[in-house]
Amino acid sequence: MEQPLLSMEGITKQFPGVTALDDLSLELRAGEVHALLGENGAGKSTLIKVLYGVYRPDAGSIRIDGRRVHVEDAQHATRLGIGVVFQELNICTHLDVANNIFLGRPKNTLGVIDERWMRREAGRILADAIKLDIDPARLTRHLSIAEQQMVEIAKVVSRGCRIIVFDEPTSSLTENEIEHLFEIILDLKRQGVGIIYISHRLEELPRIADRVTVLRDGRRVGTMDYKDTSSDELIRLMVGREFTSKYPKYERKIGEIIFEVKNLRCRNKLDIGGLTVRAGEIVGLAGLVGAGRTESMRALFGVDPADEKEAVLFGKTMHFRTPGEAIDEGFVYMTENRKLFGLCFTLDVESNINLASLRQLSSAAVMNERRAADNAESFRSRLAIKTPSIRVKAKNLSGGNQQKVILAKWLSRKARVLVFDEPTRGIDVGAKYEIYKLMNELSDQGIGIIMISSELPEILGMSDRVVVYREGRIAATLDRTEADSELIMRYATGVKKR
Ligand SMILES: Nc1ncnc2c1ncn2[C@@H]1O[C@H](COP(=O)(O)OP(=O)(O)OP(=O)(O)O)[C@@H](O)[C@H]1O
Ligand SMILES: [Mg+2]
Repeated sequence: MEQPLLSMEGITKQFPGVTALDDLSLELRAGEVHALLGENGAGKSTLIKVLYGVYRPDAGSIRIDGRRVHVEDAQHATRLGIGVVFQELNICTHLDVANNIFLGRPKNTLGVIDERWMRREAGRILADAIKLDIDPARLTRHLSIAEQQMVEIAKVVSRGCRIIVFDEPTSSLTENEIEHLFEIILDLKRQGVGIIYISHRLEELPRIADRVTVLRDGRRVGTMDYKDTSSDELIRLMVGREFTSKYPKYERKIGEIIFEVKNLRCRNKLDIGGLTVRAGEIVGLAGLVGAGRTESMRALFGVDPADEKEAVLFGKTMHFRTPGEAIDEGFVYMTENRKLFGLCFTLDVESNINLASLRQLSSAAVMNERRAADNAESFRSRLAIKTPSIRVKAKNLSGGNQQKVILAKWLSRKARVLVFDEPTRGIDVGAKYEIYKLMNELSDQGIGIIMISSELPEILGMSDRVVVYREGRIAATLDRTEADSELIMRYATGVKKR
């Protein structure tokens, strides 16, 4: 049998209170895309960090081309030909694109740092590696999250690694960029690079995956050829039970209109009017990325300025100037971006959950510790947040579990209208179902919900009405009974006929 490019055998890694990896083995062949699947907290990122020398395993061995290696640190991993695009963006936002790409690499000719040479090289790398035209002199903090991600990918891909890991690379990319990334991956594969691909989006796999390994609770539950398996089987392996439906059945009791955006304008980017939400209703906002859904909600919430803004909440005209004012009135916007907003990595899970509702949890300005702990515990169990204790620091949670902590934080606030922006991004199938159930419970309390989502099945599965955005305007408002993906896409793109 052919020698695998990489083999990890019997890897075990413990953290206080958790066995993140338990006697886990994985083999990677040259020229294959090996998908690594598992619920939030299953151990995927930890395995990659062991491979990259971030963590030392408690037991187990790693071989490359059959030769035993002890990966010391990231530099050593790079020398061994291992490259990783991490789940958390690794970019230095105070540096420009060129310096990011050259981080940890020689950046000189004749012994001096040569900025011009570096920029020219970086431009070439961007063009060659990812066929993208980004100015190497731009500060990365001025790039969109997707562009930052692409720079990160260029950095790793251009190093000529033989083993490349992508840990949830697509969660912040648009459709076009995802397609672009797949072409890059298929190209690497043709060059014989071995690729480990981590994603929660099973619908991506047919396009690229050769084999799949499923992890559960730090153990391997199966490795198979992708073509011999099915989504249903993969979900069953990941979650350990059968899923009959992705969306919980629910009869919603919808009341009167409680919130209306009468007029929202922002230069020539946004022109929104007539967006209504009724008590207990879930309104899905559909549209292409860049259609202005997030922008409009951020402007309403008071994070970004608007030229004109008129909204009515329970009959009262609202002019939220700051997020604080909006929250006080019961209008809460939950951001899609957990990395920039929302989570304090150095605080524990409990503090993060309670951060936005300190006032409600206090009496006479003193925080009621009992109530605070109870609140955090109750969300931990409702959202199945995987952590040994609520005293664990947020940075030690897996990516998807961090996302759940942010949800819990905003849900502990008493809201009357809640905006969920991409609520299930990076979240595994089982936990998605829990989040949908929670949305139904919230609607049952008469809360109006606006859900921004790029996943059409999610929009169709959860919304009572679907509002379709196109180029900063509302292109259509559809009732659940008349909405289907084709109609939504037609309004979203402005293409009239098939
Ligand atoms: N530095 C750490 N300290 C303590 N616990 C940790 C640390 N890193 C990871 N863990 C724990 O190890 C387990 C596995 O986490 P890991 O990040 O590998 O999950 P994952 O499969 O990548 O999940 P996700 O899909 O949510 O990204 C989790 O229970 C997590 O809380
Ligand atoms: Mg992870």
